[in-house]
Amino acid sequence: MEYVHTFVTSSIQLVNAYPVAASLLLGLGATTIARFCYRTISVFLQIFVLPGQNLKNYGAKKGAWAVITGASDGIGKEFAFQLAKAGFNVYLVARNTELLEAAAAEIASKHSVSTKTASIDFAKADDAAYEALSTKFQGLDIGVLVNNVGKSHAMPAYLVDTPKDEIADIVSINVNATLRVTYSILPGMIQRKRGLILNIGSFAGAIPSPMLATYSGTKAFLATFTSALAEEVQQFGITVEHVNTYFVVSKLSKIRKASALIPRPAPYVRSVLSKIGLPCGAAYSRRPNTSTPYWSHALIDYAMTVIDIPSLFISYTHGLHKDIRKRALRKMERESKAQ
Ligand SMILES: NC(=O)c1ccc[n+]([C@@H]2O[C@H](COP(=O)([O-])OP(=O)(O)OC[C@H]3O[C@@H](n4cnc5c(N)ncnc54)[C@H](OP(=O)(O)O)[C@@H]3O)[C@@H](O)[C@H]2O)c1
Repeated sequence: MEYVHTFVTSSIQLVNAYPVAASLLLGLGATTIARFCYRTISVFLQIFVLPGQNLKNYGAKKGAWAVITGASDGIGKEFAFQLAKAGFNVYLVARNTELLEAAAAEIASKHSVSTKTASIDFAKADDAAYEALSTKFQGLDIGVLVNNVGKSHAMPAYLVDTPKDEIADIVSINVNATLRVTYSILPGMIQRKRGLILNIGSFAGAIPSPMLATYSGTKAFLATFTSALAEEVQQFGITVEHVNTYFVVSKLSKIRKASALIPRPAPYVRSVLSKIGLPCGAAYSRRPNTSTPYWSHALIDYAMTVIDIPSLFISYTHGLHKDIRKRALRKMERESKAQ
């Protein structure tokens, strides 16, 4: 109590001695606090209250198609289901024909929309394969493209220890597939003056992730590519959004149990589709056209923006990945001994 009294008295003495400097400091402090409160309230409103763009703006219930890459499993499959529910015909693209057809049949049995599937291996696709895929899209009114397909490393590893073919596949799938599929669908969207392109990114793109360097770099590419493309095509009524994702239960993440921080694909995709055009947790992150829509992911993203010490996040991630690698190697050893 005595300390508080001394602090208040000396503060008053300082203000009396230097009234101009004290007013300036007070003004600065008040502005900083007001700015922080305004930003925090606006982020919370975006995450929990405000609705995103209506999907009808992109052709829902008007006969338009949604093309989803990596649609036979995980997040992509869920996008296909929820976009069909919203009233889009859906075009499912991935490798495994049987899984694609099963997903398409299930969608057709639940929703009155048309479905199509295309099988392509984005790790191996050459010009001819992309031409063939592009031909399949010709003549379709495509309102939505979800560039969802993605591959990560089998386990965290330093670049020098990463198999060459894994590096090549990650770049082909995460970067080339996004570029090539967008390239074939975008002209039609420009002609129709409407479209939504969602590029599914990762926190690994926002925080450089040691021991997942290639994956991390390809996901960072998506953020910059999205910002640049979004500016190019907004004049044609096309929205391009980079969707920043923390963990989601899936084959890729190798996580099977959902939690507050790690949703299943269904609630995750619901959050994406209900928040189109709102940056949510990525607001104020200096990543234009990025959205972090899932509530807990959004809170982490916003907290990271406020803390703003990238080196801290990078070294934390490095430590985490060293640990994951150790455990993965131990598991492999146990399994090989058991055989
Ligand atoms: N899950 C997470 O925690 C998380 C976190 C951040 C970002 N993401 C991103 O979210 C996206 C979806 O991930 P997910 O977790 O849903 O993955 P997933 O469950 O492993 O599904 C991947 C999908 O891509 C397809 N695919 C994989 N390799 C392919 C290839 N070479 N050619 C064509 N299709 C291929 C798979 O089907 P086929 O095997 O039949 O081809 C499957 O449909 C990815 O871009 C990922 O980076 C995920």
